[in-house]
Amino acid sequence: MNTQDAMKKQAAEAALSYVEEGIIGVGTGSTVNHFIDALAGIKGRIDGAVSSSVASTERLKGHGIPVYDLNAVGELSLYVDGADESNAQLQLIKGGGGALTREKIVAAASRQFVCIADESKLVRVLGAFPLPVEVIPMARSYVARELVQLGGTPVWREGFVTDNGNLILDVQHLEIMEPAKLEQTINNIAGVVTVGIFALRPADVLILGTPGGPKTVR
Ligand code: 5RP
Repeated sequence: MNTQDAMKKQAAEAALSYVEEGIIGVGTGSTVNHFIDALAGIKGRIDGAVSSSVASTERLKGHGIPVYDLNAVGELSLYVDGADESNAQLQLIKGGGGALTREKIVAAASRQFVCIADESKLVRVLGAFPLPVEVIPMARSYVARELVQLGGTPVWREGFVTDNGNLILDVQHLEIMEPAKLEQTINNIAGVVTVGIFALRPADVLILGTPGGPKTVR
């Protein structure tokens, strides 16, 4: 395990202290994979999980953790997920793994969002990481032109199809000074399913893995 992966694991294990009872929301990605593996050790404490992707569902079920449809459960008390970038306000870029739409839905349906990451994910200004945008296939070129108008350079993630059957445009060269405003603007483009800015519903807690141990930012 390299240093970055060890810090992801450290943050993931620290998030276990937020797990109480009931059904919890689970995100997607390599950091969340560590969380799922750690959750398996205390699975008797929870009733199960709502998952944000096919990949996380498979991993949860592999550990014998029941996975529920979000429509079958009420509000979730906790959502744990990773991020590609976070600023100090806990506004995030997500979607490097392409699961941004389901992640945003489960985050919205949860009272508390605990974000887990290695310390490299904390940035001053969002946007160095190419911003993922999930797009309905027939709107790909139109949405790309609109994103150019906003100052970005969209790149089609060729060969990738989301769990919802859609495409991803990764938008380079954005310096996101007003994350909530840009989130609304991009979400309003016809054909956009979701943009990977999580600013209107930021994380509530950020746990960063660092060489000195887990650090919590609120
Ligand atoms: C998936 C995501 C992930 O949370 C994000 O890409 C971080 O991934 P990792 O934990 O592998 O660094 O948003 O859509």
